[in-house]
Amino acid sequence: MLQIAIANMKGGVGKTTTAIHLAAGLARHGSRVLLIDADPQGNIGHALGVRGARTIRDLLLGDAGVDDVVVRGVRERLDIVTSTPEAFALDMHLAGAPARETILARALHGLSGYDAVVVDCSPAMSLLTYNALLFASDVIVPVGMDAMAIVGARQTLAGIRTMRTLWPDRRLDIMAVLPTSVNVATNATRGAFEAFAQHADVSARLYKRGIRQCIDLTYAISQRQTIWEYAPKSRAAEDYDAFVEFVRRGGDDCVEPKANDAKVQSTQDRV
Ligand SMILES: Nc1ncnc2c1ncn2[C@@H]1O[C@H](COP(=O)(O)OP(=O)(O)OP(=O)(O)O)[C@@H](O)[C@H]1O
Ligand SMILES: [Mg+2]
Repeated sequence: MLQIAIANMKGGVGKTTTAIHLAAGLARHGSRVLLIDADPQGNIGHALGVRGARTIRDLLLGDAGVDDVVVRGVRERLDIVTSTPEAFALDMHLAGAPARETILARALHGLSGYDAVVVDCSPAMSLLTYNALLFASDVIVPVGMDAMAIVGARQTLAGIRTMRTLWPDRRLDIMAVLPTSVNVATNATRGAFEAFAQHADVSARLYKRGIRQCIDLTYAISQRQTIWEYAPKSRAAEDYDAFVEFVRRGGDDCVEPKANDAKVQSTQDRV
């Protein structure tokens, strides 16, 4: 079973958009997928038009079991666990709980019936984020296209390295650093890619093709639809399709896809 967390300590970089489209994309290809919202902002439920009676908060507090919090059949083969702002207080409520960073991993231990679990994280290094990362085997780090993107990416990768040191028995691999809102015509995109190239920790895992900037993603979410439902012929539908395929292949063979090397290169030549 794939266990993938979508994380970046920087806000607004496309984490939730990526979590939704990775989960929905894998489900479209026949996988049975559970998408978990580990962000108290609760964006996943809003985006897919779903309100769970019980949420991630109930699961972490031990007030509900997995079966109680899963909302089934949100799309074909796609179930979700929602979140609400009440989860903001989890750090406080669980302050004295033993092994509180691994509650989610233990609650989902032995989970069956799914081929993939995708967890959307908040931009904060909160207890929920620790729980998501200690459940996951792989992390995808979406990054925006601005001057600060490299900072957020490197802070996140450093945080993951620290977690590996603290919990050495847990596997936590960086599957990809995923550029979102790529616009090859802008200095911002060129600058961000140049900064990524200068840092081996980022460039070694960079999925260079990225996801192109596409306003349809914003419109789709406002209509409670995925991009394949809202605008199946859009750039974003094509790019998320390719990224889902990358993940389905195990994430290793196209971190530096040749065709897009050329694309990024030509961008850099042009801008
Ligand atoms: N490729 C893209 N092109 C254009 N807009 C995008 C793209 N990806 C995401 N967006 C938009 O950027 C905004 C932020 O995206 P999203 O909510 O996925 O980020 P986030 O990292 O989850 O934010 P937060 O840190 O607050 O949880 C949204 O309005 C979303 O529609
Ligand atoms: Mg989000």
